[in-house]
Amino acid sequence: MSRTSHCLPDASVPRASAQPQLTRLAETARTPVMFYLDGAPVQALAGDTLLTAILTHQRHLRFSEFSGAPRAGFCLIGACQDCWVRCETSVGVPGDAQCIRVRACSTTVQAGMRILTDAPRAPHADDDRGGAHD
Ligand code: FES
Repeated sequence: MSRTSHCLPDASVPRASAQPQLTRLAETARTPVMFYLDGAPVQALAGDTLLTAILTHQRHLRFSEFSGAPRAGFCLIGACQDCWVRCETSVGVPGDAQCIRVRACSTTVQAGMRILTDAPRAPHADDDRGGAHD
């Protein structure tokens, strides 16, 4: 059975190192929260934004849908839209998940969230019409 999902990543996009971008130095006693990052179970702490939760595990939030370059947010206040990630939601049929986009910098991690950092490439991503948005 094939999975019919709009959440599948583009395998042609190069991937960055798994080295975390952020190191947690304070507030380490908050309650652990488990969520899924690109299918792998990982831990955040209650009250973390998705940006913090993700970047304590890897160097990027997403890859540009235009150039494929890794992105890790910019403004951190919900204004620049550089931190879009996708949250997989179940629609009741196993294997038929849908995705909603959320801003990682202004969304609090919740237990069981299924976050995807791979995005489908935009049409015309490799030509002159789509490459100026990074
Ligand atoms: S980092 Fe700018 S909107 Fe999230």
